[in-house]
Amino acid sequence: MKIGVIGSGGREHAILRALWRSPDCEKLYAIPGNGGMSEAETVPGLKASDLDGIVKFSREKELDYVVVSPDEPLVLGLVDRLMEAGIPAFGPSRSAALLEGSKVFAKEFMKRHGIPSADYRVFSELSEAEKYIEDCELPIVIKADGLALGKGVIIAKSREEARIGLWSIMGEKKFGHSGDRVVVEEYLEGPEVSVLSFTDGERIVPMLSSMDHKRALDGDLGPNTGGMGVIAPNPCYTEEIAGECMERILLPTIRGMKEEGRIFRGCLYFGLMLSRKGPKVIEYNCRFGDPEAQAVLPLLRSDLLPILLSCTRGGLSEELVRWKAGHSCCVILASDGYPGAFESGYEITGTKLCREVYMAGVERKEGRLFSSGGRVLGVVGTGESLPEAIESAYRDVEKVYFKNMRYRRDIGARALRLMGGEDGI
Ligand code: AMP
Ligand code: GLY
Repeated sequence: MKIGVIGSGGREHAILRALWRSPDCEKLYAIPGNGGMSEAETVPGLKASDLDGIVKFSREKELDYVVVSPDEPLVLGLVDRLMEAGIPAFGPSRSAALLEGSKVFAKEFMKRHGIPSADYRVFSELSEAEKYIEDCELPIVIKADGLALGKGVIIAKSREEARIGLWSIMGEKKFGHSGDRVVVEEYLEGPEVSVLSFTDGERIVPMLSSMDHKRALDGDLGPNTGGMGVIAPNPCYTEEIAGECMERILLPTIRGMKEEGRIFRGCLYFGLMLSRKGPKVIEYNCRFGDPEAQAVLPLLRSDLLPILLSCTRGGLSEELVRWKAGHSCCVILASDGYPGAFESGYEITGTKLCREVYMAGVERKEGRLFSSGGRVLGVVGTGESLPEAIESAYRDVEKVYFKNMRYRRDIGARALRLMGGEDGI
């Protein structure tokens, strides 16, 4: 099959590499891709949000299948457009992608179907939201309704932070129309778990659970990022909790979406918080997580392609999705300054010495690789135990160099503490 993968980050590279191993995969296009994706022909001129351009390209190249990976084209309806053009595509339709595209929709959906989540209020008027935050309990969480590059969530510990955050979303419109409405919700505490799942709209098969590390600096300090590293599986997500989540969260979500005429086919990502009152949904994403996919997909034993195809065509089954025993750890190498301003354009060396590297903010010039983004690379280690996986990842991190390279040195440390019984859950 000739397959296109939409997107340009480490997640897309992990998907490409898994597809490349499939005996049925003849040729891969990464649209737009990045300079480090050697498995695929990249299409640098075509943006992931250029729906017309992608449909035209897919027709011209007679692609057999297109995997739509990032949130934006999914929310814009690229899968619908490709399907209308007769090109099978992996990912939810526009109407199902609303689960990520609108936090107001997601919250109201969960309420309708009794899916546990934080208590919340929705505001479409700045003045009313302002009044509310003057006497609500603190901390309080304020979320822009629409997509905001993962930056639309404010956890305000003081009224002043809440006022500033609310103003930036609804007053200044920092995220444009995404801030026309806000969800203001209860602050929850507990370990977070990312559960990615495959679904054909009828059945749902969870992948191995994982733990992201969202803050920029060691010790979970500094600003929120897209993710600085991941370990999988997540030791907090015991079999018992997984069973409870399947009954109370995963299945009701798939059934609810079907009932509402928004059948969800593709990868559904559950951001969960294991709160004292039980597991609750923090967010839904309508796609693979990044960097979660970079830690989870290397542990997949089965061929990824038939799994994706079964989500699109129907007929997904647990037998299709087999995992390796063992653990993985992905460490993100970023440009210093990320998620704020950073300098890039520096030559990257040593990646060939690593076992598993996924390229994200990478450019190729005359056969050499240069940093070109905030998150530059994901270095992955696997092992029989979590400590082995962590050690293996950091051993390879040592081999890579580019100027301004920065990374967290404590990916997996919290999980190890939790497994050791310290650091009360
Ligand atoms: P989101 O973009 O919804 O994943 O939110 C980003 C991060 O904000 C999450 O991974 C959590 O760490 C945090 N967060 C979101 N909602 C809440 C909440 N209700 N209580 C506590 N933390 C939250
Ligand atoms: N790592 C979080 C996300 O992909 O949204």
